[in-house]
Amino acid sequence: MSAPDFLHQLFGLNGKVAVVIGGTGELCGAMAGGLAGAGAEVVIVGRNADKAAARLAAITAAGGKGWFHAAEATSKAELAGLRDAVLKRSGRIDIVINGAGVNSATPFFDITEEEFNRIVRVNLSSVFLGCQVFGQYLVERGEGGSIINLGSMSGVVPLSRVFTYSATKGAVHNLSLNLAREWAPHRVRVNVMVPGFFPAEQNRKVLTPDRVASIMGHTPMQRFGAARELVGATLLLASDAAGSFITGEELIVDGGYHAMTI
Ligand SMILES: NC(=O)c1ccc[n+]([C@@H]2O[C@H](COP(=O)([O-])OP(=O)(O)OC[C@H]3O[C@@H](n4cnc5c(N)ncnc54)[C@H](OP(=O)(O)O)[C@@H]3O)[C@@H](O)[C@H]2O)c1
Repeated sequence: MSAPDFLHQLFGLNGKVAVVIGGTGELCGAMAGGLAGAGAEVVIVGRNADKAAARLAAITAAGGKGWFHAAEATSKAELAGLRDAVLKRSGRIDIVINGAGVNSATPFFDITEEEFNRIVRVNLSSVFLGCQVFGQYLVERGEGGSIINLGSMSGVVPLSRVFTYSATKGAVHNLSLNLAREWAPHRVRVNVMVPGFFPAEQNRKVLTPDRVASIMGHTPMQRFGAARELVGATLLLASDAAGSFITGEELIVDGGYHAMTI
């Protein structure tokens, strides 16, 4: 077998359909681009049609296939509508990325219940609902599938200043591993993508100069990640061939941040 054939068998996603919630954003948009590059039809999900159009233009320019569906990730009814729309238009769903996320660095005593609940809804309830809606479809279909939930280093060890964000991400990790165990007999794999520090819309306010200096001091590679550096890990988790025995994994992509001690 030639090298390209071997790689295609392992990582190729021709005929697969991927739903990428948060695909209008920085990281999941790049992940969607990677899935499309490997042959999957991608459904970009978010609320910002302009950002979706830009991402889809890049995907189609590179020879990939995809379309946009606007949905509020905190609404079970809208996610069910998304599932139905994808099944109608694309015929199947094989890969789901739950990546909607917001952040805040409000000092702990100043966090209002409104803010706390809003971040919980976007970061955690959306993952819970996405897993319910799409997990049920995949389990009942009986052909396996891959769910990738966006966790964070703050879901592994709590990062300072981002209290609510860290709490939600810790819960996302916990829920993902719980479902990985539950659905393994159905060959539905559930994994957590754990990016280190990547500049994006949701963390722009959090990345103050002192914090950037602190992050660099704890990152052996001494730089931020670029969104495209999540693509390899995404394909590993998404492909039923390459990732066939990988479930319940918290796959860290962080330039060595988690390995830094002294
Ligand atoms: N950047 C990092 O360093 C980093 C590190 C660890 C984990 N993460 C996680 O990676 C994921 C993507 O974040 P990002 O850094 O790429 O940020 P981003 O560019 O700001 O993207 C955030 C995405 O979430 C979507 N979103 C937010 N609220 C939503 C809602 N209520 N309903 C539907 N979609 C909603 C946004 O869609 P619209 O704009 O279309 O509404 C956007 O696509 C998040 O879960 C984040 O926590 C990021």
